[in-house]
Amino acid sequence: MNSTLPGAPWLIAHRSMLGINKPYKLKLNGQDYVLWQNPAGEIAALENICPHMQAPLSEGWICEVNNSITCPYHALEFDRAGRLLKHGLAKGEPLANKLELVVQGDLIWTYGEHEPRLPIPDLLSSRTEGFRFLGITGDRTIEAAFLRCIRINYDFNHQNGVHRELFRIQENPVELFEKNGFEASVIQTFIRSENSLSEILKNLSLLTLPKQIRNELDYSFPSTILFRARLPLGEVLQAFILYPESEHQTRTFVLFYGNLQSPLFILPGLRNVLERSLLNSTAKVVEQDTNAVASLYPAQKPKIRLPKEEILTYAEKLYHDW
Ligand code: FES
Ligand SMILES: [Fe+2]
Repeated sequence: MNSTLPGAPWLIAHRSMLGINKPYKLKLNGQDYVLWQNPAGEIAALENICPHMQAPLSEGWICEVNNSITCPYHALEFDRAGRLLKHGLAKGEPLANKLELVVQGDLIWTYGEHEPRLPIPDLLSSRTEGFRFLGITGDRTIEAAFLRCIRINYDFNHQNGVHRELFRIQENPVELFEKNGFEASVIQTFIRSENSLSEILKNLSLLTLPKQIRNELDYSFPSTILFRARLPLGEVLQAFILYPESEHQTRTFVLFYGNLQSPLFILPGLRNVLERSLLNSTAKVVEQDTNAVASLYPAQKPKIRLPKEEILTYAEKLYHDW
């Protein structure tokens, strides 16, 4: 199995996705892994393959006392180093392969089984300061290769098609595009037309959106795209995360942060309703992107070019030159 962008740092999960003492299965570059978090917040990660008869460890169970996982097939128990445990004691060398993690606060990064070629970006830790973490949304597997998926996030022209009904964006002038190696920044404004009453009733978060939204995007190739918008109610910040599950599948999720303030929030439950609604709208955006990307025919050389495609070309070049 070929790895996509070997040596890139991948943000494979936020701590809140793991739960406590529960096996959490994920796939990265064709390989399945199992993670678990103990109540002290320590995170273990092994290849999901039992070294006895290759059962999926993630179907087994966690022992809190031993901080171990037990295989569902013959109930052999492994500690977080992958060593076999007998009566709570580790025997010999690790047998189950470990996945090296880099845990930064709530963010769980890994290079998979490759030597690092880029440092872990500090974009998220530096930009999310002062924001409240509102949750994970838009968590899904896209049936498409990584390059296809990342292209849509670097594509400023798809709002008019893919997200037309949701946001009614008429124009999105881009006033800044700066690139510096694997990092890039963009400032653009969404100019919207009115949503209909029925659209608003279906999606209350549309009430929070003015007709012009100035937003800033920060890109850290290849894993992270940070979208920050100032709304009348305060700022929202969404980190769109991507990593390759295999050559043909890409995982995505969004870390949603907000800094919303309103005197109306003294009304019980209002803050919660609006925050939920914003998370749901983002899930809808991701669903629309996902469906658009998964529906594409095999790539050909484009015979038409639109304005504002430089950033798309930039991302493609980083991918191909890797
Ligand atoms: S296959 Fe895991 S214990 Fe036998
Ligand atoms: Fe999109």
